Amino acid sequence: MAFISILTGAGISAESGVPTFRDSNGLWNNYSIEEVATPKGWLEDPQLVWKFYQERRKGIQGIKPNGAHYSLVDLENKLEEMGHEFCLITQNIDGLHLIAGSKNVIEIHGALRRFKCQKCGYKEESEYTDNDLIPCPKCEWVRLRPDVVWFDEMPHFPEIFINAINKCTHFASIGTSGEVYPAAGFIYETMRDGKEVYFQNIERMPRHLWDKGIKEFQGKATEQVPKMCKSILESVSIKENK
Ligand code: OAD
Repeated sequence: MAFISILTGAGISAESGVPTFRDSNGLWNNYSIEEVATPKGWLEDPQLVWKFYQERRKGIQGIKPNGAHYSLVDLENKLEEMGHEFCLITQNIDGLHLIAGSKNVIEIHGALRRFKCQKCGYKEESEYTDNDLIPCPKCEWVRLRPDVVWFDEMPHFPEIFINAINKCTHFASIGTSGEVYPAAGFIYETMRDGKEVYFQNIERMPRHLWDKGIKEFQGKATEQVPKMCKSILESVSIKENK
């Protein structure tokens, strides 16, 4: 049985109109990570952090998944029919994989659509609102926080992604700069033990990964991800018939 694990980053949503973090017009060129995306920033200036994430929430209102998201749904459905395993690990907080219809997806950096209370653990999902900081309706703690993972915090679902990386037969990295761990380490973890590794990005693969047997699909995600999914399915079918 094959086990296909896919990692996605901001690049897969770029053509849906969601800004990336590190491209020339990326978010981290205009905001300080320390101020808006760390527990320290939240303690020091919750209003600034809240405003930053409210803007992100506003920015994803009405956005739609693109062909790259949908081809991963199609890949998952076909693999399921064939009796193979599939795990989609996303660093994205825009929810587009779920909107597209992916089922086995883990949002390891959380989700913009959700708030949580750091004191009692209460969680809620809501549409964008222009409200000021919202107190916890359960324990009345002064403010809910966005349920996203900040720098210096643990990603969500570690046991699921560790298993998916260890057990997979095929791994694909899509639209991520590979700057943030642990996700940045997945490609190195999977470049061994006969696993097949795929790399998709609008930019060329970093030089140190050349000549390592990685299948590269360079270009826009909407053009290249469907091709990459086809190639993964062909590889799985060939192995199945051996
Ligand atoms: P980055 O902004 O670091 O990288 C986006 C990648 O997408 C870059 O490598 C681009 O070359 C590529 N890209 C841009 N447009 C593309 C397109 N149309 N098709 C394919 N690729 C394209 O975003 P991430 O790697 O997702 O974490 O960043 C990882 C984490 O860093 C984020 O989850 C976030 C950020 O800080 C936290 O906030 C904790």
